[in-house]
Amino acid sequence: MLNLQRTDLFREAAYVGGEWSAGSGDSWQTIHNPADGERLGRVPCLTRAQVADAIRAADKAFAEYRQWTGKAKAAVLQRWAALMQEHKADLARIMTAEQGKPYAEAMGEIDYASSFLEWFGEEAKRIYGETIPAPRGTQRITVIRQPVGVCAAITPWNFPSGMVTRKVAPALAAGCTVLLKPAPQTPFSALALCVLAEEAGLPKGALSILTGNAEDIGAELIESETVRKLSFTGSTAVGKKLMAACAGTMKKLSLELGGNAPFIVFDDANLDAAVQGALASKFRNGGQTCVCANRFFVQAGIYDSFVERLTKAVISMRVGRGTDHGVTLGPLIDDAAFRKVERLVDDARAKGAQVRAGGQPHSAGPRFYTPTVLTEVDYSMSIMHEEIFGPVAAITRFTDEAEAITLANTTRYGLAAYFYTSDLNRSIRVTEALDYGIVGLNEGAISTEVAPFGGIKESGFGKEGSRHGIDEYSERKYVCVGNVS
Ligand code: SIN
Repeated sequence: MLNLQRTDLFREAAYVGGEWSAGSGDSWQTIHNPADGERLGRVPCLTRAQVADAIRAADKAFAEYRQWTGKAKAAVLQRWAALMQEHKADLARIMTAEQGKPYAEAMGEIDYASSFLEWFGEEAKRIYGETIPAPRGTQRITVIRQPVGVCAAITPWNFPSGMVTRKVAPALAAGCTVLLKPAPQTPFSALALCVLAEEAGLPKGALSILTGNAEDIGAELIESETVRKLSFTGSTAVGKKLMAACAGTMKKLSLELGGNAPFIVFDDANLDAAVQGALASKFRNGGQTCVCANRFFVQAGIYDSFVERLTKAVISMRVGRGTDHGVTLGPLIDDAAFRKVERLVDDARAKGAQVRAGGQPHSAGPRFYTPTVLTEVDYSMSIMHEEIFGPVAAITRFTDEAEAITLANTTRYGLAAYFYTSDLNRSIRVTEALDYGIVGLNEGAISTEVAPFGGIKESGFGKEGSRHGIDEYSERKYVCVGNVS
């Protein structure tokens, strides 16, 4: 069915403390292909006691793993990255089957995911401390960096491999051990990565993959005093609950939460670049990314040409199963996601938005939505306030720069923002005025392992990727040496 070269990459098991596990053997979660609802397989629902076993194994492994040199950690991470490249086609097939994204995008995500292993493998050798000139001649002050300890990571379904390595790679590079709970819709990609991690030489207990009931696993991880850090990517609503729950054990947190990205096109923009950027930002992964353009603001002078060009490109998108040749847009992840997109479009239309393309379900199947362009959108419509997480471009007209900035910042989210202009002074002014953690200036594709990814406001906090990513998994210990003679 999956036509894998290496069938052992597809595991219907959890991975606990270095052993593949069927859990208690009597409770399972079934995973379906979002394109057609076909059953792909099942994974065990671990009991709380089994999660506690995984935590103990991670703690035991930590005692030894924290002593590893940067060079030794780098070697494992880089071997793991090489294995991902070697088995890229199989990993992409598993991803498309469980997540639905077009195969070419899944192949791109495997590159993205392995880039974090490669990058943080390199960084593992560069976890530098500091020396600080002391205020007294008899003192010497240094700062050393040490791993946080046992870490928990909860990853989303939209990037089933990329979000795993973006958390696990810096944690392992820093010397931490990790308990990872993949999204219930897409556990097979994480499990396949784990097969390769084992092969790359990661020691037993350094990484566990916990499958099953989110509440049970989450509760055990959060209540544990051994788990010292939680990194979560997902909705703002769940992030807030996790943050409150983690207060009990004062865990270190990284929260990569929802977004409501503005995409501003000024009259002086390069139109070709703006349309290309809009397509890349809006329709990647069917619009199911936290950094997707959610609200388009287009200046009056360029509005008609931008709408016309974008609409033409959107109409020519090929919708279908991710495995079919030439498909550029797959299904939404599940029925709830489909209903949300439908509700937001219907609400906007009822309140006066014009449908330039799409605006309806697609004949490819029950979870497919036709790529859509809406114009004359305004703040009375829910689509301006909620994350669409679907292939819908909602466009609003504006007249001047001040209005664009106000419109863009009118949201409680602050993850990514995009704008297109050819005016140097405006590019500096607007960059500084946007209340976001990431700005794409004349660029719609901003994700890379070398830059710090993360939001502000209700989009969360903490940086993933870049040299700053490792800070989330290490602590600075200040050492004051006195009585130096
Ligand atoms: C996300 O949607 O959370 C991640 C998107 C990305 O890494 O580009």
